[in-house]
Amino acid sequence: MANLINSPFSDDDRAHMRAALSLAKRGLGIVAPNPAVGCVIVRPDLGVNGRVVGRGFTQSGGRPHAETEALRQAGDLAAGSHVYVTLEPCNHHGQTGPCTVALISAGVSAVTIALTDPDPRVMGSGIERLKHAGIVVRTSLNDNDARRINAGFIRVQEHGRPWVTLKIATSADGMIAAEKGVPLWITGAAARARGHLIRAQNDGILTGVGTVVADDPQLTCRLPGLEHQSPRRFIVDPQARMSPDAQILKPSNDSASAVYVAEGAGHSFDNTGADIIPMPAQDGRFDMSVILQDLGTRGITRLMVEAGQGINDAFMAADLIDEIAWFRAPTNIGTDGVSVFSSKEIESPDQSDDFERIETIDLDDDRLERYLRVR
Ligand SMILES: NC(=O)c1ccc[n+]([C@@H]2O[C@H](COP(=O)([O-])OP(=O)(O)OC[C@H]3O[C@@H](n4cnc5c(N)ncnc54)[C@H](OP(=O)(O)O)[C@@H]3O)[C@@H](O)[C@H]2O)c1
Repeated sequence: MANLINSPFSDDDRAHMRAALSLAKRGLGIVAPNPAVGCVIVRPDLGVNGRVVGRGFTQSGGRPHAETEALRQAGDLAAGSHVYVTLEPCNHHGQTGPCTVALISAGVSAVTIALTDPDPRVMGSGIERLKHAGIVVRTSLNDNDARRINAGFIRVQEHGRPWVTLKIATSADGMIAAEKGVPLWITGAAARARGHLIRAQNDGILTGVGTVVADDPQLTCRLPGLEHQSPRRFIVDPQARMSPDAQILKPSNDSASAVYVAEGAGHSFDNTGADIIPMPAQDGRFDMSVILQDLGTRGITRLMVEAGQGINDAFMAADLIDEIAWFRAPTNIGTDGVSVFSSKEIESPDQSDDFERIETIDLDDDRLERYLRVR
């Protein structure tokens, strides 16, 4: 076992951790406020190159944990196994006992961890407990990938607010609408389906009253089989001017709605079933960082913003965008159209030093560009 501690990670180690990371992603959008974790258990002494005896990922609502599920599958074969887990195993008593104790009781020999848990209740104590029990513990394998998957959980732990992904669909010349108030589908079916997948992977989705009045959207995930992963819907409507009959206020696909209204604003939403959240406003404007802190307390770790120019501007001005999912259609709308931000200079985030393009995906005639904030 001393050899294992000192040797570099092997190709097999990397492959098992990649599998655990893929499993972890399956929890995105359903586990908040818990982290999305994946776990693979391997018996290196079985088969030609070892045998995978258990796999698990954090289940809906955060329980059971990935390790619990993988250990259940492995049964007695967990004794003497190597465990690959994307986040440090928990070491505190929640609704169930700590995963560290379950791993020790199962008799596992080694645990390879991608990322140390930033939760102050864990933060290295899980690693120490495993080591104390004589288990070989290795850390930081694919830690950047694990950090990215749990960017929302980490944001809440460190800053009290969710990770914010701004989703935009524009024409080739950067317009989000032909004319304010006129509904228009800019991208094709494949791009819209990808947009729904991003909704499913977020805990909350936020829009502005301007979009509700113009488009009357539902903002649910309507991909077959993923309807139950619709995010909670939040509407910024300081003057409460949206119609109580707006589709977004109707319970749909198990997704509840909540409206941020200015303190003291009268409203007609009482019978809609939506939560009404009064917020302090200055000159009719909310401080978006206060809204994000409030969302953090409501268990939202990953927030998608799908709105018009007004809300896009508010988030950009407050430096609150962590990631951008920018869908571009091939056709132009022209200079009469509405741009993403009122400052038309920002036609592409990679023109600014703040964002870096990390991915480009072709979706039929459209394209998805993903950007990450780099500073
Ligand atoms: N292609 C796309 O990606 C996309 C996505 C969504 C929407 N759209 C289009 O965008 C257009 C609507 O644009 P929009 O700018 O009117 O919509 P919006 O951004 O969804 O909503 C703007 C409204 O939100 C409120 N607001 C904005 N900042 C605020 C702040 N800091 N505090 C409090 N309230 C704030 C204001 O309401 P009050 O005026 O009541 O104060 C403002 O009028 C539509 O044509 C729609 O189709 C395009």
